[in-house]
Amino acid sequence: MTIKPDSMSVASADDQPPFPTDFTWGAATSSFQIEGASTADGRGPSIWDDFCKREGAIADGTNGDIACDHYHRSGDDVDLLARLGLGAYRFSIAWPRVYPTGSGALNPLGLDHYDRLVDALLAVDIDPYATLYHWDLPQTLEDAGGWRSRETAYAFADYAEAVVDRLGDRVSSWSTLNEPFVSANHGYVTGEHAPGRTSMLEGMAASHHLLLGHGLALERIRSIAPDAEAGIVLNFTPAEPDTDGVADVAETERVNDLENRWYIDPIAGRGYPEATAQLEGWNQNEVEDGDMALIAAPIDVLGVNFYTRQVVSALEGHKPERPTPKTDMGWDIHPHSFGKLLHDLQTGYDFPKYIISENGCAMPDNARMPDGRVDDLDRIDYFRAHLARVLDAIAAGMPIAAYFAWSLMDNFEWAHGYAKRFGIVEVDFDTLERRPKRSALWYADVAATGMLPDPRAT
Ligand code: FCB
Repeated sequence: MTIKPDSMSVASADDQPPFPTDFTWGAATSSFQIEGASTADGRGPSIWDDFCKREGAIADGTNGDIACDHYHRSGDDVDLLARLGLGAYRFSIAWPRVYPTGSGALNPLGLDHYDRLVDALLAVDIDPYATLYHWDLPQTLEDAGGWRSRETAYAFADYAEAVVDRLGDRVSSWSTLNEPFVSANHGYVTGEHAPGRTSMLEGMAASHHLLLGHGLALERIRSIAPDAEAGIVLNFTPAEPDTDGVADVAETERVNDLENRWYIDPIAGRGYPEATAQLEGWNQNEVEDGDMALIAAPIDVLGVNFYTRQVVSALEGHKPERPTPKTDMGWDIHPHSFGKLLHDLQTGYDFPKYIISENGCAMPDNARMPDGRVDDLDRIDYFRAHLARVLDAIAAGMPIAAYFAWSLMDNFEWAHGYAKRFGIVEVDFDTLERRPKRSALWYADVAATGMLPDPRAT
């Protein structure tokens, strides 16, 4: 695909102030998407293992049994990060490795894996950024109600405690949850993700229990590792109305409440967006005394995940399309929305620090360089345009400390299986061989210089 220059405009590298020298450059992954080794060393099944067995749930009929086999290749993958010169690695811990049935008996072998990973990272000066929950809930807990149940939040806090007990002396940055919106919405409302349930009210209950789990886990992190930074990772898909009509504008408000304010507002102490909660018929029965204060406990850092924007229409079944360049997911490439989001966060909230915890794109990856590596200029264009917005936000005074490319390597893209490739490193899923794409080499250059070179200029 070709990308229109107008939506990707970036000042030339010479015009730009470089990124601050202490800016952290990293890459991100998550446990279920890369680890494989689904029964190794006592790991229990997660909701994703079960979901993958459902007819039609995963577009290409695949699963996470092997994935990138990172569990057995983590040493090589750390070498890869080091060769790219990255200063940080964001990964997640698989709850079912640590507690195979979610609670009860701890499995120390599961923790050993992350212990080795953290040591390997530190040995090559890469900061470990650990996420405690990136969607792989132990299936046993789902059988008992999953995030619909308050008990899951308590189990999550105990799991967090076990992990931080073991790794808290070396991990300096913790995130409790990755994208609770997607856990609750895709898992319990639309059913496109595990556990595949479809009820708005279950989704709302799940959203509260996820946030409660965040608050409870944060308390444990604070007490065990008081010097570590701790926060949560939220995704934002800014919505704009198709037309100026009253109905489109109102529907856009509803979508922004549900998708973009539902989690950040309670964390910022503002509670759930009231009008939309009422509109959806959620009476907030799950919210008990003290919950909202726990959820609003100060965080040190907010992780921001951004991929795309959405255009919203009030017309039933109408999905407005804009003639904007798209990624291989069909998502609009719209760096302007990223810039606006960062501006809105900076002016609307007062979190002490931000990291861009995920940003990136799936691209078709059809072109090859003469040496055979993937020639993904389109992915470089995407990163470059979005990083320029980060630079603008920093120049405007927003405290953004780090950027994590999604993803270090091609991996299991949830319901899409392995067909959608987000990696800066190519994975051959037959041989499991890794090979940096052109974008990885470009990104290594960015990390080394703090500049955003134009790949077409060289
Ligand atoms: C985010 C997820 C991540 C990956 C990217 C493409 O929503 O956090 O695991 O799937 O999207």
